Amino acid sequence: MLLERLWTGIRRYVPIPVYPLLSPLYRWRQRAHLKVLEKEDQAYIEAHGSLPVPPAELRYRVVGECTIERFINSGEQTVEDIENALEAVDRSLADVRDFLDFGCGCGRLLLALKNRDFTFRVSGCDVDERTIRWCQEHLETAECLVNDALPPTPYQPDSFDLIWCGSVFTHLDEQRQDLWLAELHRIQKPGGLLLASVHGPHAWQPRLPAWTIAKLKEQGILYAKMGAFSGMHPDWYQVAWHTEAYIREHWASFFNILGYLPQGFNNHQDIVVAQKRD
Ligand SMILES: C[S@@+](CC[C@H](N)C(=O)[O-])C[C@H]1O[C@@H](n2cnc3c(N)ncnc32)[C@H](O)[C@@H]1O
Repeated sequence: MLLERLWTGIRRYVPIPVYPLLSPLYRWRQRAHLKVLEKEDQAYIEAHGSLPVPPAELRYRVVGECTIERFINSGEQTVEDIENALEAVDRSLADVRDFLDFGCGCGRLLLALKNRDFTFRVSGCDVDERTIRWCQEHLETAECLVNDALPPTPYQPDSFDLIWCGSVFTHLDEQRQDLWLAELHRIQKPGGLLLASVHGPHAWQPRLPAWTIAKLKEQGILYAKMGAFSGMHPDWYQVAWHTEAYIREHWASFFNILGYLPQGFNNHQDIVVAQKRD
Protein backbone atom coordinates (compact mmCIF):
# COMPACT_ATOMS: atom_id res chain seq x y z
CA MET A 1 0.00 0.00 0.00
CA LEU A 2 2.80 2.37 1.00
CA LEU A 3 4.74 1.36 -2.13
CA GLU A 4 1.63 1.98 -4.27
CA ARG A 5 1.25 5.49 -2.88
CA LEU A 6 4.95 6.20 -3.30
CA TRP A 7 4.80 5.01 -6.92
CA THR A 8 1.75 7.15 -7.68
CA GLY A 9 3.61 10.14 -6.29
CA ILE A 10 6.83 9.66 -8.23
CA ARG A 11 5.78 7.98 -11.49
CA ARG A 12 5.44 11.19 -13.45
CA TYR A 13 9.14 11.86 -12.78
CA VAL A 14 10.35 8.42 -13.82
CA PRO A 15 11.77 8.33 -17.38
CA ILE A 16 9.95 5.81 -19.60
CA PRO A 17 13.14 3.80 -20.43
CA VAL A 18 13.38 2.90 -16.72
CA TYR A 19 10.01 1.11 -16.74
CA PRO A 20 11.14 -2.25 -18.15
CA LEU A 21 13.57 -2.50 -15.21
CA LEU A 22 10.55 -2.43 -12.93
CA SER A 23 9.15 -5.71 -14.34
CA PRO A 24 9.90 -7.77 -11.19
CA LEU A 25 8.11 -5.17 -9.06
CA TYR A 26 5.16 -5.19 -11.44
CA ARG A 27 5.01 -8.99 -11.27
CA TRP A 28 5.01 -8.85 -7.49
CA ARG A 29 2.24 -6.24 -7.63
CA GLN A 30 0.22 -8.40 -10.07
CA ARG A 31 0.32 -11.33 -7.64
CA ALA A 32 -0.75 -9.11 -4.72
CA HIS A 33 -3.61 -7.55 -6.71
CA LEU A 34 -4.79 -10.91 -7.91
CA LYS A 35 -4.99 -12.30 -4.39
CA VAL A 36 -7.19 -9.37 -3.34
CA LEU A 37 -9.38 -9.72 -6.45
CA GLU A 38 -9.86 -13.44 -5.85
CA LYS A 39 -10.98 -12.78 -2.26
CA GLU A 40 -13.40 -10.09 -3.46
CA ASP A 41 -14.78 -12.49 -6.08
CA GLN A 42 -15.42 -15.10 -3.43
CA ALA A 43 -17.35 -12.60 -1.29
CA TYR A 44 -19.31 -11.37 -4.32
CA ILE A 45 -20.28 -14.88 -5.40
CA GLU A 46 -21.33 -15.80 -1.84
CA ALA A 47 -23.62 -12.75 -1.80
CA HIS A 48 -24.97 -12.87 -5.37
CA GLY A 49 -24.51 -16.46 -6.56
CA SER A 50 -22.35 -17.55 -9.46
CA LEU A 51 -22.45 -15.36 -12.58
CA PRO A 52 -21.13 -15.91 -16.11
CA VAL A 53 -18.14 -13.66 -15.49
CA PRO A 54 -14.53 -14.63 -16.29
CA PRO A 55 -12.28 -15.55 -13.37
CA ALA A 56 -10.16 -12.87 -11.68
CA GLU A 57 -6.95 -13.94 -13.40
CA LEU A 58 -8.42 -13.57 -16.90
CA ARG A 59 -10.01 -10.23 -16.06
CA TYR A 60 -6.73 -9.01 -14.59
CA ARG A 61 -4.80 -9.87 -17.75
CA VAL A 62 -7.24 -7.98 -19.92
CA VAL A 63 -8.42 -5.00 -17.89
CA GLY A 64 -6.27 -4.89 -14.77
CA GLU A 65 -7.75 -4.54 -11.30
CA CYS A 66 -11.40 -5.10 -12.07
CA THR A 67 -13.92 -6.55 -9.61
CA ILE A 68 -16.87 -8.58 -10.92
CA GLU A 69 -19.14 -5.61 -10.36
CA ARG A 70 -16.82 -3.25 -12.19
CA PHE A 71 -16.40 -5.71 -15.07
CA ILE A 72 -20.18 -5.90 -15.54
CA ASN A 73 -20.77 -2.17 -15.10
CA SER A 74 -17.93 -1.09 -17.40
CA GLY A 75 -19.24 -3.48 -20.08
CA GLU A 76 -22.68 -1.85 -19.77
CA GLN A 77 -21.02 1.56 -19.89
CA THR A 78 -19.19 0.57 -23.08
CA VAL A 79 -22.53 -0.14 -24.80
CA GLU A 80 -23.62 3.38 -23.83
CA ASP A 81 -20.29 4.81 -24.99
CA ILE A 82 -20.74 3.14 -28.38
CA GLU A 83 -24.30 4.45 -28.62
CA ASN A 84 -23.08 7.97 -27.78
CA ALA A 85 -20.27 7.80 -30.35
CA LEU A 86 -22.73 6.68 -33.02
CA GLU A 87 -25.21 9.37 -32.06
CA ALA A 88 -22.46 11.97 -32.47
CA VAL A 89 -22.36 11.11 -36.19
CA ASP A 90 -26.11 10.59 -36.59
CA ARG A 91 -25.96 6.82 -36.56
CA SER A 92 -27.32 4.24 -34.15
CA LEU A 93 -26.97 0.60 -33.22
CA ALA A 94 -30.33 0.08 -34.93
CA ASP A 95 -28.48 0.58 -38.28
CA VAL A 96 -26.09 -2.29 -37.55
CA ARG A 97 -26.39 -5.82 -38.93
CA ASP A 98 -22.89 -7.23 -38.46
CA PHE A 99 -20.83 -6.14 -35.48
CA LEU A 100 -17.23 -7.07 -34.65
CA ASP A 101 -15.55 -6.55 -31.29
CA PHE A 102 -11.89 -6.61 -32.40
CA GLY A 103 -9.67 -7.41 -29.38
CA CYS A 104 -12.70 -8.51 -27.37
CA GLY A 105 -10.57 -9.90 -24.51
CA CYS A 106 -12.63 -11.97 -22.08
CA GLY A 107 -15.93 -10.60 -23.33
CA ARG A 108 -16.57 -7.51 -21.21
CA LEU A 109 -18.61 -5.89 -23.98
CA LEU A 110 -19.91 -9.18 -25.45
CA LEU A 111 -21.44 -10.06 -22.07
CA ALA A 112 -23.22 -6.69 -21.91
CA LEU A 113 -24.51 -7.16 -25.47
CA LYS A 114 -25.76 -10.64 -24.55
CA ASN A 115 -27.86 -9.09 -21.77
CA ARG A 116 -29.48 -6.62 -24.18
CA ASP A 117 -32.04 -7.07 -26.85
CA PHE A 118 -30.06 -6.32 -30.01
CA THR A 119 -30.80 -8.05 -33.30
CA PHE A 120 -27.42 -7.68 -35.05
CA ARG A 121 -24.97 -10.53 -35.52
CA VAL A 122 -22.12 -10.30 -33.01
CA SER A 123 -18.55 -11.50 -33.62
CA GLY A 124 -15.50 -11.16 -31.42
CA CYS A 125 -11.83 -11.91 -31.97
CA ASP A 126 -8.61 -11.64 -30.01
CA VAL A 127 -5.04 -12.89 -30.19
CA ASP A 128 -5.38 -14.31 -26.68
CA GLU A 129 -6.44 -17.95 -26.93
CA ARG A 130 -7.45 -18.31 -23.28
CA THR A 131 -9.79 -15.33 -23.27
CA ILE A 132 -11.41 -16.47 -26.51
CA ARG A 133 -11.88 -19.97 -25.13
CA TRP A 134 -13.76 -18.43 -22.19
CA CYS A 135 -15.95 -16.42 -24.57
CA GLN A 136 -16.68 -19.47 -26.71
CA GLU A 137 -17.70 -21.48 -23.65
CA HIS A 138 -19.87 -18.80 -22.01
CA LEU A 139 -21.12 -16.34 -24.61
CA GLU A 140 -23.08 -18.38 -27.12
CA THR A 141 -24.64 -15.20 -28.58
CA ALA A 142 -21.29 -14.18 -30.09
CA GLU A 143 -19.15 -15.97 -32.64
CA CYS A 144 -15.61 -15.74 -31.32
CA LEU A 145 -12.28 -16.72 -32.80
CA VAL A 146 -8.56 -16.35 -32.23
CA ASN A 147 -6.76 -14.20 -34.79
CA ASP A 148 -3.02 -14.10 -35.49
CA ALA A 149 -0.83 -11.35 -34.08
CA LEU A 150 -0.46 -9.94 -37.60
CA PRO A 151 -3.11 -9.62 -40.33
CA PRO A 152 -5.04 -10.99 -42.06
CA THR A 153 -7.98 -12.18 -40.01
CA PRO A 154 -10.07 -15.03 -41.45
CA TYR A 155 -12.97 -12.63 -42.15
CA GLN A 156 -14.16 -11.97 -45.71
CA PRO A 157 -13.79 -8.48 -47.20
CA ASP A 158 -16.72 -6.11 -46.49
CA SER A 159 -18.00 -8.17 -43.54
CA PHE A 160 -18.92 -5.66 -40.83
CA ASP A 161 -21.00 -2.47 -40.57
CA LEU A 162 -19.48 -1.65 -37.22
CA ILE A 163 -16.12 -2.58 -35.72
CA TRP A 164 -15.37 -1.72 -32.10
CA CYS A 165 -11.76 -1.68 -30.88
CA GLY A 166 -11.67 -1.04 -27.15
CA SER A 167 -8.13 -0.34 -25.96
CA VAL A 168 -6.31 -2.26 -28.69
CA PHE A 169 -4.52 0.58 -30.52
CA THR A 170 -3.42 1.69 -27.03
CA HIS A 171 -1.04 -1.30 -27.01
CA LEU A 172 0.52 -1.49 -30.49
CA ASP A 173 3.50 0.19 -32.13
CA GLU A 174 2.90 2.38 -35.15
CA GLN A 175 3.79 -0.27 -37.71
CA ARG A 176 1.34 -2.78 -36.22
CA GLN A 177 -1.30 -0.08 -35.93
CA ASP A 178 -1.00 0.64 -39.65
CA LEU A 179 -1.18 -3.03 -40.58
CA TRP A 180 -4.31 -3.46 -38.48
CA LEU A 181 -5.93 -0.28 -39.74
CA ALA A 182 -5.52 -1.62 -43.27
CA GLU A 183 -6.98 -5.00 -42.25
CA LEU A 184 -9.95 -3.47 -40.43
CA HIS A 185 -10.53 -1.33 -43.51
CA ARG A 186 -10.55 -4.52 -45.65
CA ILE A 187 -13.15 -6.34 -43.54
CA GLN A 188 -15.39 -3.31 -43.03
CA LYS A 189 -18.40 -2.83 -45.30
CA PRO A 190 -18.25 0.24 -47.55
CA GLY A 191 -19.59 3.17 -45.53
CA GLY A 192 -19.21 1.10 -42.33
CA LEU A 193 -17.81 2.56 -39.15
CA LEU A 194 -14.79 1.83 -37.01
CA LEU A 195 -14.90 3.02 -33.41
CA ALA A 196 -11.46 2.75 -31.85
CA SER A 197 -10.29 3.99 -28.47
CA VAL A 198 -6.90 5.64 -27.97
CA HIS A 199 -4.93 7.11 -25.07
CA GLY A 200 -5.55 10.83 -25.61
CA PRO A 201 -4.60 13.75 -23.32
CA HIS A 202 -6.68 12.55 -20.35
CA ALA A 203 -4.63 9.35 -20.26
CA TRP A 204 -1.27 11.16 -20.55
CA GLN A 205 -1.59 13.61 -17.71
CA PRO A 206 -1.33 11.75 -14.42
CA ARG A 207 1.27 9.29 -15.62
CA LEU A 208 3.74 10.67 -18.12
CA PRO A 209 6.69 12.95 -17.35
CA ALA A 210 6.43 16.45 -18.85
CA TRP A 211 9.36 15.85 -21.26
CA THR A 212 7.67 12.68 -22.54
CA ILE A 213 4.46 14.60 -23.15
CA ALA A 214 6.47 17.20 -25.08
CA LYS A 215 7.94 14.43 -27.27
CA LEU A 216 4.50 12.89 -27.78
CA LYS A 217 3.04 16.24 -28.84
CA GLU A 218 5.89 16.71 -31.30
CA GLN A 219 5.62 13.19 -32.82
CA GLY A 220 1.86 12.70 -32.47
CA ILE A 221 2.37 9.13 -31.30
CA LEU A 222 4.48 7.43 -28.68
CA TYR A 223 4.93 3.74 -28.00
CA ALA A 224 6.89 2.51 -25.01
CA LYS A 225 7.86 -0.71 -23.32
CA MET A 226 6.47 -0.48 -19.83
CA GLY A 227 7.29 -3.71 -18.02
CA ALA A 228 3.74 -3.79 -16.61
CA PHE A 229 2.66 -6.63 -18.91
CA SER A 230 5.74 -8.77 -18.59
CA GLY A 231 4.82 -12.45 -18.22
CA MET A 232 1.19 -11.77 -19.17
CA HIS A 233 1.27 -10.60 -22.80
CA PRO A 234 3.56 -10.95 -25.85
CA ASP A 235 6.50 -8.56 -26.00
CA TRP A 236 4.87 -6.41 -28.70
CA TYR A 237 1.93 -5.67 -26.37
CA GLN A 238 3.01 -2.43 -24.67
CA VAL A 239 1.53 1.06 -24.35
CA ALA A 240 0.84 3.71 -27.01
CA TRP A 241 -0.42 7.28 -26.71
CA HIS A 242 -1.75 9.54 -29.47
CA THR A 243 -2.59 13.14 -30.21
CA GLU A 244 -5.87 13.99 -31.92
CA ALA A 245 -3.96 15.81 -34.67
CA TYR A 246 -1.99 12.65 -35.49
CA ILE A 247 -5.18 10.57 -35.68
CA ARG A 248 -6.89 13.10 -37.91
CA GLU A 249 -3.93 13.23 -40.27
CA HIS A 250 -2.46 9.71 -40.21
CA TRP A 251 -5.61 7.62 -39.92
CA ALA A 252 -7.09 9.70 -42.76
CA SER A 253 -4.95 7.63 -45.17
CA PHE A 254 -7.30 4.75 -44.35
CA PHE A 255 -10.61 6.34 -43.35
CA ASN A 256 -12.69 9.48 -43.25
CA ILE A 257 -12.41 10.66 -39.67
CA LEU A 258 -15.96 11.62 -38.75
CA GLY A 259 -15.47 12.34 -35.08
CA TYR A 260 -13.15 12.33 -32.08
CA LEU A 261 -14.70 12.04 -28.62
CA PRO A 262 -12.40 12.99 -25.72
CA GLN A 263 -12.78 10.50 -22.84
CA GLY A 264 -15.59 8.83 -24.75
CA PHE A 265 -14.64 5.32 -23.56
CA ASN A 266 -15.36 4.64 -19.89
CA ASN A 267 -14.60 8.33 -19.25
CA HIS A 268 -10.88 7.66 -19.82
CA GLN A 269 -9.76 6.86 -23.37
CA ASP A 270 -10.80 8.92 -26.41
CA ILE A 271 -12.90 7.39 -29.18
CA VAL A 272 -12.10 7.84 -32.87
CA VAL A 273 -15.07 7.53 -35.22
CA ALA A 274 -13.77 6.48 -38.65
CA GLN A 275 -15.65 5.59 -41.80
CA LYS A 276 -14.55 3.40 -44.66
CA ARG A 277 -14.58 5.30 -47.89
CA ASP A 278 -16.83 3.91 -50.61
C1 LIG B 1 -6.84 -3.78 -22.81
S1 LIG B 1 -7.49 -5.21 -23.49
C2 LIG B 1 -9.16 -4.72 -23.83
C3 LIG B 1 -10.08 -5.88 -24.09
C4 LIG B 1 -11.53 -5.53 -24.41
N1 LIG B 1 -11.60 -4.76 -25.63
C5 LIG B 1 -12.17 -4.81 -23.26
O1 LIG B 1 -12.38 -3.60 -23.35
O2 LIG B 1 -12.46 -5.47 -22.25
C6 LIG B 1 -6.76 -5.30 -25.10
C7 LIG B 1 -7.09 -6.58 -25.82
O3 LIG B 1 -6.65 -6.46 -27.16
C8 LIG B 1 -6.12 -7.71 -27.56
N2 LIG B 1 -5.27 -7.46 -28.74
C9 LIG B 1 -4.15 -6.72 -28.81
N3 LIG B 1 -3.67 -6.72 -30.07
C10 LIG B 1 -4.54 -7.46 -30.80
C11 LIG B 1 -4.59 -7.83 -32.17
N4 LIG B 1 -3.66 -7.44 -33.04
N5 LIG B 1 -5.60 -8.61 -32.59
C12 LIG B 1 -6.56 -9.00 -31.72
N6 LIG B 1 -6.55 -8.70 -30.40
C13 LIG B 1 -5.55 -7.94 -29.96
C14 LIG B 1 -5.40 -8.22 -26.34
O4 LIG B 1 -5.14 -9.60 -26.39
C15 LIG B 1 -6.39 -7.81 -25.24
O5 LIG B 1 -7.34 -8.82 -25.00
